[in-house]
Amino acid sequence: MKAPVRVAVTGAAGQISYSLLFRIAAGDMLGKDQPVILQMLEITPALGALQGVAMELDDCAFPLLAGMITTDDPNVAFKDADYALLVGARPRGPGMERKDLLEANAAIFSVQGKAINDHASRDIKVLVVGNPANTNALIAQRNAPDIDPRQFTAMMRLDHNRAMTQVAQKTGTSINDVTQMTIWGNHSSTQYPDLHTALINGEPAISKVDGTWYEETFIPEVQQRGAAIIKARGASSAASAANAAIFHIRDWALGTPEGDWVSMGVYSDGSYGIEEGLIYSFPCVCKDGDWQIVQGLEINEFSSSRMKATENELKEERNAVKSLLPA
Ligand code: NAI
Repeated sequence: MKAPVRVAVTGAAGQISYSLLFRIAAGDMLGKDQPVILQMLEITPALGALQGVAMELDDCAFPLLAGMITTDDPNVAFKDADYALLVGARPRGPGMERKDLLEANAAIFSVQGKAINDHASRDIKVLVVGNPANTNALIAQRNAPDIDPRQFTAMMRLDHNRAMTQVAQKTGTSINDVTQMTIWGNHSSTQYPDLHTALINGEPAISKVDGTWYEETFIPEVQQRGAAIIKARGASSAASAANAAIFHIRDWALGTPEGDWVSMGVYSDGSYGIEEGLIYSFPCVCKDGDWQIVQGLEINEFSSSRMKATENELKEERNAVKSLLPA
């Protein structure tokens, strides 16, 4: 059996974590031969509920669960962490403006970025799930100057999975037939799900659907799927978000399948003209525990304008929290 790795999860008593923690402990994320120690962070008032979650984890008798820590101190939660899933975030309250929301989260993610910088493994892999995920990831990254910025990522995998299912259902194919899907940009309604890059059974997906469906149904449905779930369920996506987080870290750690790629919010190196340093979703191939942005994709005018629009939103979000970012 391998030595255990330490997985920090924030917002550990929340909805997403109620699915996520159990799947991590079951070995769905890092493999059935990889023991894990869960380091769970919550705000002080939620520590009682978190204790209940820890009791249930105990009651599962997971063979791979090598230990648990519950805490309200980020310095404890991130100590020697090999992975961090930053799920906890401040939800939008009544009367709260977008800028207030960005600032409230900037306060949380700057503290957590610093704690990661000071206490985590130098090789930590960080996934930000809590919204606004890309900008929260940027804030955490900027507060962790001693960690390679490439190790901070934002979750786009739920959008990626949603897009795969929509196109498979439309074309009467299986999810297993769909490859090379790409979501560009921000995890928000400006994201651009791009069918031009995707393949169905090795053939261009765009050639299998009509242009009106692509522009007027597919794109808005993927962009608005989160809102549709809230309307139907009366609560935001939880199990599917946890699943996406599992897939994101699994592929980053263990690699993407040959010939395929995934969408990840990653530190832009200027690829495709996207401003360097933004946490922007690109198509990525993962290998040996690292990711690379897929290069050389052809971008038409339609795609280019949408990629720019979502980039502009990320710049606006960054500017709204600029005063809180270290120089
Ligand atoms: P939830 O409200 O059920 O749970 C969030 C938990 O975070 C709460 O238990 C809260 O006490 C905790 N928390 C708040 N501030 C914290 C802090 N400073 N440190 C530690 N814990 C803290 O919310 P849910 O449904 O689990 O969603 C979590 C986040 O994930 C939300 O921001 C949501 O918008 C986002 N989300 C992101 C998706 C994506 O695709 N990137 C998809 C779905 C949700």
